[in-house]
Amino acid sequence: MGDTAFTPRVFSGIQPSGGLTLGNYLGAMRRFVEMQDAGTYETIYCMVDLHAITVWQEPDALRKNTRELAAFFIAAGIDPERSILFNQSQVPEHAQLAWIFNCVARMGWMGRMTQWKDKAGKNSENASLGLFAYPALMAADILIYHATHVPVGEDQKQHLELTRDIAQKFNNDFKVDFFPITEPVIEGAATRVMSLRDGSKKMSKSDPSDMSRINMSDDADTIAKKIRKAKTDPEPLPDTLDGLKDRPEARNLVDIYAALSGMTAEQVIADAAGQQFGQFKPALAELAVEKIAPISAEMRRLMADEAEIDRILARGAERAREIAIPILAKTYDIVGLLGAR
Ligand code: AMP
Ligand code: TRP
Repeated sequence: MGDTAFTPRVFSGIQPSGGLTLGNYLGAMRRFVEMQDAGTYETIYCMVDLHAITVWQEPDALRKNTRELAAFFIAAGIDPERSILFNQSQVPEHAQLAWIFNCVARMGWMGRMTQWKDKAGKNSENASLGLFAYPALMAADILIYHATHVPVGEDQKQHLELTRDIAQKFNNDFKVDFFPITEPVIEGAATRVMSLRDGSKKMSKSDPSDMSRINMSDDADTIAKKIRKAKTDPEPLPDTLDGLKDRPEARNLVDIYAALSGMTAEQVIADAAGQQFGQFKPALAELAVEKIAPISAEMRRLMADEAEIDRILARGAERAREIAIPILAKTYDIVGLLGAR
């Protein structure tokens, strides 16, 4: 990096592809709120609908999921005044900068992305070109705001490294110090929330069993039932985390308790040492209901007024464009495109 000082600015995005889980809340949203509340950064959060359509989305479902995701952001504590909250397709500069990054990034870089390999699978000839170019659009999301910090889950680390490579290559190719080299922020008690049925799998909206996850739309009874029925083992809880090494399901419940209560996993295990799950699970269920049920209730309330959600997103897009338009214009100028004149 050169000497350019960039404003401390956070950007992150979530795809409106439907089905929000406790994993999204603890792994992503909660940290988005913390970074907003810290007051040290400008915070910008986005529903990345252009990323969602890299695989098929039913148009009506996409519209509904985008509004539901907006409701989730707000219900979880993102304040659309203090943060900029908007929808990617309403800020055309993302797609415009992504085109330039398509011309900076190399085929080989994209081909090495594990998400591409996983999602395209054996049938990559039939995957969309958008799915292959996905990380260049993600780099554009971040760099169109000169964002310096990006909170994400573990699974997005490789894409953030690619974002740094794109910024670096652009700066080198054009002999400028224009794009910041972004820092990933991957930390916290629950960067990986696991399935309630199988402690070796990530809690995911795509798991066929609804009992494997807590959905942000679940009501109090459903949340409590899923925790009561979560897979565990017959042993009592040990007095150190070490004792949970080969007990992934038990470890997951301890981690979830820690993340929801704001304690460390060490503190939780010290308090619960010797307890049977018959005692620990009801305590966890009570805590989960206390934290999650008000968010889902608030989401339902917000979802009832679509016009209000649309108004908030339109205002967010306007504020986002105030930052994005001059950065795109400068980028065009650096590249030698007359478009911005
Ligand atoms: P996705 O819904 O997979 O697009 O993820 C949106 C955000 O939630 C990303 O930052 C993910 O890393 C995070 N996330 C999704 N599932 C989990 C999980 N089970 N544990 C922790 N973080 C997650
Ligand atoms: N790829 C991210 C995911 O699937 C979503 C995303 C798109 C994103 N653009 C971003 C995350 C920019 C952080 C910054 O979770």
